[in-house]
Amino acid sequence: MSLARILLVDDEPQMVRLLERLLGHLEGVRFEKAYSGEEALEKVYRLLPEVVVADIKMPGMDGLELLERIRERDNTISVILITGYGTIEMAVEAIKKGAYDFLPKPFEANHLRRLVQRALERSLLLRENLRLKTQREKWWESLGMVGDSPIFRELMGLVERVARSDATVLIRGESGTGKELIARAIHHLSERSSREMVTVNCAALPESILESELFGYVKGAFTGAETAKEGLFVKADGSTIFLDEIGDMSPPLQVKILRVLQEREVRPLGSTRVLKVDVRVIASTNQDLESKMASGKFREDLYYRLNEVTLWVPPLRERGEDILLLAQHFLREYAQKYGRQGLTFSPEALEFMLQQPWRGNVRELKNTIKRAVLLAPENEIRPEDLRLLSAQSRNLRDRPWKAKPYHQAKREVLDRFAREYLENLLRSTGGNISRAARLAGLKRQSLQRMLRHYGLKIPLSPDPEDLSS
Ligand SMILES: Nc1ncnc2c1ncn2[C@@H]1O[C@H](COP(=O)(O)OP(=O)(O)OP(=O)(O)O)[C@@H](O)[C@H]1O
Ligand SMILES: [Mg+2]
Repeated sequence: MSLARILLVDDEPQMVRLLERLLGHLEGVRFEKAYSGEEALEKVYRLLPEVVVADIKMPGMDGLELLERIRERDNTISVILITGYGTIEMAVEAIKKGAYDFLPKPFEANHLRRLVQRALERSLLLRENLRLKTQREKWWESLGMVGDSPIFRELMGLVERVARSDATVLIRGESGTGKELIARAIHHLSERSSREMVTVNCAALPESILESELFGYVKGAFTGAETAKEGLFVKADGSTIFLDEIGDMSPPLQVKILRVLQEREVRPLGSTRVLKVDVRVIASTNQDLESKMASGKFREDLYYRLNEVTLWVPPLRERGEDILLLAQHFLREYAQKYGRQGLTFSPEALEFMLQQPWRGNVRELKNTIKRAVLLAPENEIRPEDLRLLSAQSRNLRDRPWKAKPYHQAKREVLDRFAREYLENLLRSTGGNISRAARLAGLKRQSLQRMLRHYGLKIPLSPDPEDLSS
């Protein structure tokens, strides 16, 4: 703990020395000295002492004025004013102005000590409360999470509570709502935070590889297993493992996960030994587990194991004002990153964002704004800078050929391919058609014909980054 500071102020140096001597027994305290009101104020600003003991009568800025100036700035500083003969009225005024107390001269050493001690305790308490309050208020912001809507605050409250337990947590919600961020927050707030969380994307790997990653194997467990490999469950021992997209895991692997959850032990492939692990499990999915269970694709027993606590992350469109908070947050971030400071949203753009369904949730909003920052021609982002992008990102996500006649589907997919190909090509040559034709291995005339066919104008905007992030 750092030392508390007590600032002693008097224009008479021997008085300052006396005060220091009388208070010298206080522990955990460091004394600062000032010989005028002005000097004291400067030290108050710079050192933020807990307690100020000042003579009320000083040339220049007197004790009362000093008190007022301190009060303007900080309510946690306790100010004790020393009053001489004939200044009792000033003492009363001092209390009215927020002095902690006054000390009439001549005073007894014990009285001074008790007073300063109590003043110090009060200040430390006030500061501790303030610290806890600011820490509690929107603690998630320090983790890069933005949100202030009642529904989001409630979720953050749950996150905080569940983090303190060791319960298995299932995080559910639509794609892009922030499930992974929330998993990180839980780990971060938990007692396991000193060790890194291990994240496994269960949808990204083929079943057999996922299995050997999770459980590890011994040398010679299968062809190609030339050395033993430690599994991720073992790596996460003492920490948290985050099973992302668990809804996409195959049923046979689900059984094995269930065993780990029940027994808290793993058996590496090819091994006869089981290893005890102390792991906290957090899982997430955007899948409809209920219908997956109904069709036998997700095991009910695993579901009940995971579901000790389920956190539902609400879709962005239900978070009201958070949309705008997040939008401003991403605008700041990308404007800074891409050197477009000063870029703002037009009122219509704000209105527009509030009305979007945001099916891709926070991720879609983030990408939409990233692109708008890159592409908006003016210093103000207008709805059209957002509209086009939002539509585009939806197209990329859904598959337009699903449930369509083969020939029609093929034409649509090829059309889309050609369009994207050509747009990219032209962007990469800055609109230079001859170079584009050379790069593509096409005749200049054919390229021009294709451009006309697809109604493409030569784009001069910078290349927006990949949508996936
Ligand atoms: N409250 C938030 N504040 C700031 N950024 C957020 C917030 N929620 C989500 N994001 C951002 O949105 C993106 C998507 O978040 P995340 O990957 O956690 O979503 P997800 O629910 O895991 O999505 P998916 O189901 O597709 O895996 C990330 O870039 C993340 O940083
Ligand atoms: Mg995710």
